[in-house]
Amino acid sequence: MHSFHYENGSLHCEGVNLDVLANEHGTPLYVYSQATILDHYRRLSAGMSELDCQICYATKANSNLAVLNLLAREGAGFDIVSGGELFRIEKAGGDPGKCTFAGVGKTRAEIELGLEKGIYSFNAESEAEVAFISKVASEMGKVAPIALRVNPNVDAKTHKYISTGKSENKFGIDFSVIREAYERAAALPNIKIRGLQMHIGSQLTSVNPFVEAVEKVAPLVQELKEKYEIEFFSIGGGIGIVYEDTLASGQDHWWGEKEEKPLTIEEYASQLVPLLKPLGLKIILEPGRFMVGNAGVLITEVLYEKRGSAKTFQIIDAAMNDLIRPALYEGHHDIAPLKEPTSDETEEVDIVGPVCESGDFFAQNRALPPLEEGDRIALLSAGAYGFVMASNYNSRPMPAEILVDGDTAHVIRARQSFDDLIQGESIPARAE
Ligand code: LLP
Repeated sequence: MHSFHYENGSLHCEGVNLDVLANEHGTPLYVYSQATILDHYRRLSAGMSELDCQICYATKANSNLAVLNLLAREGAGFDIVSGGELFRIEKAGGDPGKCTFAGVGKTRAEIELGLEKGIYSFNAESEAEVAFISKVASEMGKVAPIALRVNPNVDAKTHKYISTGKSENKFGIDFSVIREAYERAAALPNIKIRGLQMHIGSQLTSVNPFVEAVEKVAPLVQELKEKYEIEFFSIGGGIGIVYEDTLASGQDHWWGEKEEKPLTIEEYASQLVPLLKPLGLKIILEPGRFMVGNAGVLITEVLYEKRGSAKTFQIIDAAMNDLIRPALYEGHHDIAPLKEPTSDETEEVDIVGPVCESGDFFAQNRALPPLEEGDRIALLSAGAYGFVMASNYNSRPMPAEILVDGDTAHVIRARQSFDDLIQGESIPARAE
């Protein structure tokens, strides 16, 4: 489910009128629904309840302290990819002992921090990395818990920038050499082999690649369990969400009249639990997008309409620096006016930002209800990989973030000021 709907002609997040919120906090503005995040976490946990399952939320999807704190209080662990994320987890009240540390390029400082904080597992992506973790752990007189990330060479059938489980990707260790890699890792000092990890890609809209990968890797997991007494098998994240027509139904897994049936949690669980249960291990999931994607919107205002000879442009006050997914992955975000349309009339328009780049668009040739200057719209499904990928490009201050809980709106990150933009910068003193 998600908690965005029209009420009395205005788009609401839970009990909060988004137009009122925008009057108070300005635009562009990120707004998240607490109820939606909790619903997603609880539904996934319930689906996996037959397993000894630990959800390690992929922090990178939305790392606001309030979001992390919400999930930590539900019992979530965290998949992290940097020292900065580990710092956030601690600040948010998360447990480092439930953290897995992913990524192909962990630095010495990050490995030291992970060891000091006692993270659950370093998910290592190359033999060189394991050797380095062993060296750092030995120097610190600590034992480093590790898992290797296997690349199962399965096609996740997703956008090429977010596909990770094929041999040509930089991620993980090839399935064909993984056994030897474990043998060499086990022989290194100050290393404890704790598990096996994989992650085949993001925004998967079918369960089949997950099934294919788990079936392929399960025999290896059994072998590793017998040989090294591993405790866990992480099947990564990647559960896709629906980006189209979510508002009409109030569902985030809605297929309306579309032919393709997107992935539901029920299907994910019913296909994977029977394959995972016989392994008798802790199963780790690393969902990011599923947890927060449909729980967030970016509210923005139409500044100008520009009628060109070929197209009509609606120029809005949000830009690619605020939400880069359309520019980077041709990502689709549904667009909903904050005032409920009163007729079915639409007009084909491009929704573009103010930045001087052709990639600075949010929709092209999109049929939308007629918009006027000053109208506000919501870019939907912006809760994952939205604010976290924002930048100060064009010296644009980053938007504020709001977490809605019922009728209450909490500011969970203040809008940046101009002073924030130059924080840490200085002009060298020069001899005259
Ligand atoms: N685990 C690992 C090791 C990952 O690399 C990722 C995401 C996840 C879990 C979480 O995947 P999710 O459940 O969110 O699909 N910025 C892109 C997505 C990049 C995903 C990177 N890795 C986007 O906006 O589509």
